[in-house]
Amino acid sequence: MDRHCPMVDIKQHMTRARELGLDNGQVPAEYYTSPEYFDREKEMIFRRAWLMVGREDEVVRPGDYIVRELPTLDASVIIARGKDGVVRAFHNACSHRGVALACQERGNALTFRCPYHAWTYGNDGALRAIPAEQDFPHVDKSKNGLTPIHLDIWSGFVFLNFAPEPEVTLHEFLAGLDDMLEGAPFEDFPFHADVTAEIDANWKFMVNAFNEGYHVAILHQKTLRPMVIPSENPHLHYLDIRSFGPHSSATVQRNFDWAPSTPTLSWVISQMLPTSVPDKEAIAEGRAGFYEHPGINRLKIPNFGTETITIFPNISIQPLANGYLFYQFWPLSHNRMRTEVRIYSRAAPQNLREEFALANTLAATRDVVSEDLAMCRMQQVGMTGGGKSHQNFGQNEPLLRMFTRDYEAYLAGGGMKPLAAAAE
Ligand code: FES
Ligand SMILES: [Fe+2]
Repeated sequence: MDRHCPMVDIKQHMTRARELGLDNGQVPAEYYTSPEYFDREKEMIFRRAWLMVGREDEVVRPGDYIVRELPTLDASVIIARGKDGVVRAFHNACSHRGVALACQERGNALTFRCPYHAWTYGNDGALRAIPAEQDFPHVDKSKNGLTPIHLDIWSGFVFLNFAPEPEVTLHEFLAGLDDMLEGAPFEDFPFHADVTAEIDANWKFMVNAFNEGYHVAILHQKTLRPMVIPSENPHLHYLDIRSFGPHSSATVQRNFDWAPSTPTLSWVISQMLPTSVPDKEAIAEGRAGFYEHPGINRLKIPNFGTETITIFPNISIQPLANGYLFYQFWPLSHNRMRTEVRIYSRAAPQNLREEFALANTLAATRDVVSEDLAMCRMQQVGMTGGGKSHQNFGQNEPLLRMFTRDYEAYLAGGGMKPLAAAAE
């Protein structure tokens, strides 16, 4: 592939909202400010959609388990790999009197023993032992294991579904996004460094911030702007927008005229960590990770930065040459949210050089995310005061309109089927 071919006409690929039939340019303020909307989101979105909760390689060996708290649903979940190699998920609640029986964040255990009265479960969830069992003649052990949660795995990502019976399979839910990313090398990048932040803002403000490049030259002028904004696309319009049901992907350019201004920075960038700076050596040696994948940079834009991939309702993934960025936005209430960022790369730092590079990458990521979080906080302040009844989404913000359309469809009880299929 010739990555330096300058023949792509960028303007042709700046998808406008109207081209996608998205004419919802105004969105009510109450979506972002009302406790009732948050209650509906929990029931109609977070208890119905497949939610990504981790990577399969976090539970590699039989007996490995992790405990995940899902703040939106007030749920504590055990994800465990059984002796048979199968990964399962359970509510972290004892069948006797409800104690959350696994308390460590991760571990390896063949059984889970409740600390209160020692009811004991296999890591397949089966109830194995009840001390003084004769006092519980009404409890059928075979029917009182840990309560399972529907689990499925795509590309190493573990998804849960909290509905009694999921309306669609994970494959149906992903609506073609999984086909587009088939064979993408997520498993080549198992190491991750994390940044987590909680702020007083509605979660959808952050979803929106990741779905447009319009703000990048302004808000991120001291951080991202020099390295990201190309001269031919000053408002960083996302290119080649594709939708897969409520999920989407879009191509984002970067500024190939930018060069690191200090030796330290160029040195950091030459390290192992995820960066959108093209590692020409890696590309030449076939180590370019996602950049070789056919679903990514479909237009073969020469100054390609990343493909920004949104998985409804709360995930943004940005594949890079030597890793990927993963963002997840969890509502805690109508006006409080948690942002979880994971920076995935090939391996843990092996020496001081790499430790330094990691620290630098984490600090740079935190700087950029903090700028977004600050705007979301100020949006919450502005939208709560009652002075504005709605927000305006432009023709250059089609992904915000798309998300809102699908958000409304979910709240109304639909949204689950791929839109193409629904139209038939
Ligand atoms: S609550 Fe778990 S054994 Fe009693
Ligand atoms: Fe941003």
